[in-house]
Amino acid sequence: MHPAEQRFEVHILDTGERYACGGSQTLLAGMEALGRKGIPVGCRGGGCGVCKSRIVRGDYHAAKMSRACVSADEQAAGVVLACRVVPRSDIEIEALDRMRRCVTRHLTPAARPPVPPT
Ligand code: FES
Repeated sequence: MHPAEQRFEVHILDTGERYACGGSQTLLAGMEALGRKGIPVGCRGGGCGVCKSRIVRGDYHAAKMSRACVSADEQAAGVVLACRVVPRSDIEIEALDRMRRCVTRHLTPAARPPVPPT
């Protein structure tokens, strides 16, 4: 089966949530389908940076992302814009910056994971 037709599991490390994401569906679209309030949705086109995240584990395909949002060094370290990435395997993702604040807003302070090093 072509990867675009497969379904993969995405694990949001910040919250412990997991969701199914199709191989032709962006990680942000899959996250939105969780239906939980607080998922930041901006331009959905790789230009505003609100969905900035880091892929900790897994294979993916990233479409063109604004260099103003993700530097070449960040991209090499797995930083992506979730609206520009489709999964090619199961994924572990860590939200960054505004995305992180939004997805962890519903957690008690004690339940929030430590801020990752930048
Ligand atoms: S929603 Fe704007 S860069 Fe992802």
